[in-house]
Amino acid sequence: MNTLFRLPHAQQTAASGIDRVAVIGAGSMGAGIAAQFANAGVVVDLLDIAGSEASRRNGPAETGVAGQLKSNGFMHPDAARLVRAGNVEDHLDRLSEADWIIEAVVERLDVKRELYRKIDAVRRPGSIVSSNTSTIPRAALLEDAEPTFRADFLITHFFNPPRMMRLVEIVATPENAPDLVLRAKAACENLLGKTVVDCRDTPGFIANRIGCYWIAVGILEAKRLGLTIEEADAAMVALGIPKTGVFGLLDLIGVDLVPHIWGSLGRALDRHDDFHRFDLIGDPLILSMIERGLFGRKAKAGFYRLAADKSREVLDLATGEYRRERPVSPSAFPVGAGRARALVSRDDRLGRYAASVLANVIAYAAQVGAEVASDVGAIDVAMTLGYAWKTGPFALADEVGRKRIAATLSEHGRQVPQLLAQDAAFFDAAGNALSMDGMSRSSTANPTPLARAKAMGAPLLGNDAASVWDLGDGVACFEIHTKMNSISPAVLEILSETIRAGGALFQALVIGNDEPRAFSAGADLSCIAGLARDRKWDAVESVLVAGQEAFLALKYAPFPVVAAAHGLTLGGGCELMLHADRVVAHAELNAGLPEAKVGMVPGWGGCTQLLVREQRRIGCHDPRAAAKRAFDIIFGAQPSTSALDASAKGLLRPGDAMVMHRDHVTGAAKALALALLNEGYRAPEPASLVLAGPDLKSEILSGVRDRHAAGYLTDHDMVIGEALATVLTGGAGPALRLGEREVMALERQAVMSLVKRPETQDRMAHILSTGKPLRN
Ligand code: NAI
Repeated sequence: MNTLFRLPHAQQTAASGIDRVAVIGAGSMGAGIAAQFANAGVVVDLLDIAGSEASRRNGPAETGVAGQLKSNGFMHPDAARLVRAGNVEDHLDRLSEADWIIEAVVERLDVKRELYRKIDAVRRPGSIVSSNTSTIPRAALLEDAEPTFRADFLITHFFNPPRMMRLVEIVATPENAPDLVLRAKAACENLLGKTVVDCRDTPGFIANRIGCYWIAVGILEAKRLGLTIEEADAAMVALGIPKTGVFGLLDLIGVDLVPHIWGSLGRALDRHDDFHRFDLIGDPLILSMIERGLFGRKAKAGFYRLAADKSREVLDLATGEYRRERPVSPSAFPVGAGRARALVSRDDRLGRYAASVLANVIAYAAQVGAEVASDVGAIDVAMTLGYAWKTGPFALADEVGRKRIAATLSEHGRQVPQLLAQDAAFFDAAGNALSMDGMSRSSTANPTPLARAKAMGAPLLGNDAASVWDLGDGVACFEIHTKMNSISPAVLEILSETIRAGGALFQALVIGNDEPRAFSAGADLSCIAGLARDRKWDAVESVLVAGQEAFLALKYAPFPVVAAAHGLTLGGGCELMLHADRVVAHAELNAGLPEAKVGMVPGWGGCTQLLVREQRRIGCHDPRAAAKRAFDIIFGAQPSTSALDASAKGLLRPGDAMVMHRDHVTGAAKALALALLNEGYRAPEPASLVLAGPDLKSEILSGVRDRHAAGYLTDHDMVIGEALATVLTGGAGPALRLGEREVMALERQAVMSLVKRPETQDRMAHILSTGKPLRN
């Protein structure tokens, strides 16, 4: 197992008391939940039914683990070692070791109830038992259960895939001890990185109740109004209701599951429930698709399929046959703030469709709201995190306006639910959500330390590109706020000013932000590409010098610096992270040095710092091994797929920390900065490096030449490889001991030689215009 220090794990197992977990049922959900615990460093027993072959009694559970390895449920393959596969016939006694037992077997009441009897016979008193059922109410699951079992039993409803989907719906009742519920919630948030929504014990809880209704309305209204599948999906995307659109989402879920999911929900709901207004199960199109085996992605054919020539085909709703896809141009839809309102106000087919779907879904959410949740915020959080809507139904209602929704409902002969009839906005300016009785508001937000600092007033320093905020306790936060937090000369200016001001303003520095996608996606490429196009080579070199000087000053600053890294941490963003004393990384970290993809090598100290780290890790006695590894990582240009992977790639070190919940990263970084301060922080000693010289360069390049000869690398890749090998080995001279600045000068020379080449300029221009790398 790799050695990334799990600061929050140590803290938070203490808070949740969850050290060991058992999951029963190793299908896509059970094995996925087990994998997510393992990602957090928790030991898990995963049990399924016993295999039929005597030699493979654990076969079904092992298959579940293998499936997660294949579908990237594990953040690093090593994490799978924390999962012990077993079966319910031979290993039920293992449940006595578990602090939390999660049932994720087939959705059958009889099977689940029978299993609970067996669990209760072996589990430790006070251990949490929960079910991942998607539709069966808690009351039904527990009909004949003992009071002690009832007291410890919850529903914890995860979404698929468990690693990626941030929502967990929890159903607890007054039968449960508050302490047990708090432990389960703390574990979901801190160990698994999830956001918990409290639900009432009703069929489908919140997200599936509203989400299944929305899918049915989306599909049936598209048919009624004569839209094509492409039009309907594009209209949903324009409303910010997820990227797949509604037909694309059902392809992902599986059209064959319609009778099961919608059927089970429909049977559990009262016959007067508006859910029955849109009958997806009885729809002739769905019935014929199931009959023809058009189940969606798993059958490689559903509403969409790939033709033999890899072009996309779409089912024609009028004929039921496939035809070529006719993509709808995004320009057919309004963009920017107010786009939902603009779209539903349009008197054309797309506008009428969007208005009808939205009005129906918002009306349903308002109708069932009080039955399923305590405030509108819970429903919006469930839909954004469980169904990937950009904005929840009630926030959309505020945007579109209730009058507009009421007008559409009246056109359809529908009553306006009471919650929609009142005047107050569902969310006030501070984001507080209206209670279901419309009488009070509660805060849905749990602001990060940075959000709190920003709400308090003005930054300590700042310009259009970056600001420095006071996080309290002597800690400041350097926040980049350019597009995707790219690092421009203006960012470097404020960074240098911050380091100079240092002790006068703060005692420790966190670098981070609350932008959902990126710590920093890299250097401002358009700036470099523009200077290169105008042949302003001195200006390019000045940008290189400014970045190198600022980052080196950061590394040797007299105060501790902790990078709160998350999401895209690429190129210059990764180099910034590499110069911090410590990193607190979100578990889903995509960090790397992909400069080769734009025809360059890292030029802000990335090559130098990776070499410093590798030489320390491997030991200076083997500079060849260190340089080869640094070469492979940089030339490979593959960003990490997680913090554990970044650690395996040498981008994180022991002493750095991993945090599972995205919103906890800045807070944990502040805590680590304070810990460094309290330990009596001293700036690091200057590093020196041993460069291995020309023999190693030839050795590295012979491998590159072989890959070029085999057609894996282009001529320009060879040029980049040569430039990088020169930086990491010192090139022509004999083996040398150099300081960081001298190696950084080699980086600069390499970048300057590459940036002048037309192939590099073509790569930069291509990625800027298409977002994709050019292979030239
Ligand atoms: P699945 O069918 O992929 O896996 C169920 C597993 O349970 C199978 O490996 C089966 O061998 C095992 N099993 C059956 N009876 C057992 C028993 N008595 N003891 C031990 N293992 C047993 O099902 P999936 O999709 O993983 O769903 C599991 C649960 O999670 C269900 O309650 C489902 O409603 C719920 N759920 C499913 C979601 C999904 O998207 N698939 C999403 C959220 C919840």
